[in-house]
Amino acid sequence: MSFSLFTGTSNPALARSVALALGVPLGRAEVSRFPDGELRVELHETVRGHDIYLVQPTSPPAEEHLFALLLLADACRRAGAASLTAVIPYFGYARQDRRAQGRQPIAARLVADLLATAGFGRVVALDLHSRAMEGVFSMPLEHISAISPLVEAVRKELPENAVIVASDLGATKLAELWARHLDLPAALVHKKRMSGDVVHVRDITGDVAGRAPVLVDDMISTGGTLVAAAKCLLEAGARPEIIVAATHGLLVGEAVERLAQLPLKRLIVTDTVVVPEAAAARLPLTVVSIAPLLAECIRRLHDGESLNELLSWG
Ligand code: R5P
Repeated sequence: MSFSLFTGTSNPALARSVALALGVPLGRAEVSRFPDGELRVELHETVRGHDIYLVQPTSPPAEEHLFALLLLADACRRAGAASLTAVIPYFGYARQDRRAQGRQPIAARLVADLLATAGFGRVVALDLHSRAMEGVFSMPLEHISAISPLVEAVRKELPENAVIVASDLGATKLAELWARHLDLPAALVHKKRMSGDVVHVRDITGDVAGRAPVLVDDMISTGGTLVAAAKCLLEAGARPEIIVAATHGLLVGEAVERLAQLPLKRLIVTDTVVVPEAAAARLPLTVVSIAPLLAECIRRLHDGESLNELLSWG
């Protein structure tokens, strides 16, 4: 059976790289707007009988990118596609996977239901905010991990006497995995989020004095978590040569300015989302491409091979 790869507008460069790595052309589809602002989607080639992979991170503006993905799926389904897989390298709304307080929605569950309604039968996502996210999907979720390419990028920069640091409790398992890969000790910063972009750090567990910290996290949004963690590490005597490694470099709002104040040796993110231009200009940035990983995942899914070593079990 044939398979085809399509994308929307959230990260066409990544989709093109995935297509190149797979040796297939990117399907021709158009995402535009009607004069009243509504999204308009049209496929410009046949998909009848094809297994379709739609590559579209639902990065900010998440509603726009999510809705385009849903419309593309609906167009493929109505045009006779045999199966639909959503490849969502960055999954917007994943942080809302539970109700922190009453009278709140579980947005991640709603997004999963919308994907199912649009016709997707499977989702591929990368380094989701939590493992518990799997529970919001009724369809199969292939949760793959970018830790291998990120670890290799960090290994090239690693100073003597480094320590892996989880920037919050949620990143503890991730930090343990990093520590095993690099054979380093791990430490944990205890954080309390006061609001969307204000974060307080209480304490550090682990020995960081005289060590070069490698801060790991799934994502950087406003940079609040990292800045608070870095300050706390420096106060605790960590060396001012900080490496940060995170899968999703959203870098929204004041993130670039905030991070530019830190003694960063290197900031390593992947290309799941388009990193703002200012980040490359102002920060010691390395962007690791996850296109080969996504291509390998799609190839194995299509050929019915095991994904085991690509999956995130951390
Ligand atoms: C939260 O638990 C995540 O792992 C990240 O630490 C957080 O989402 C990053 O957001 P910000 O950069 O806005 O602090």
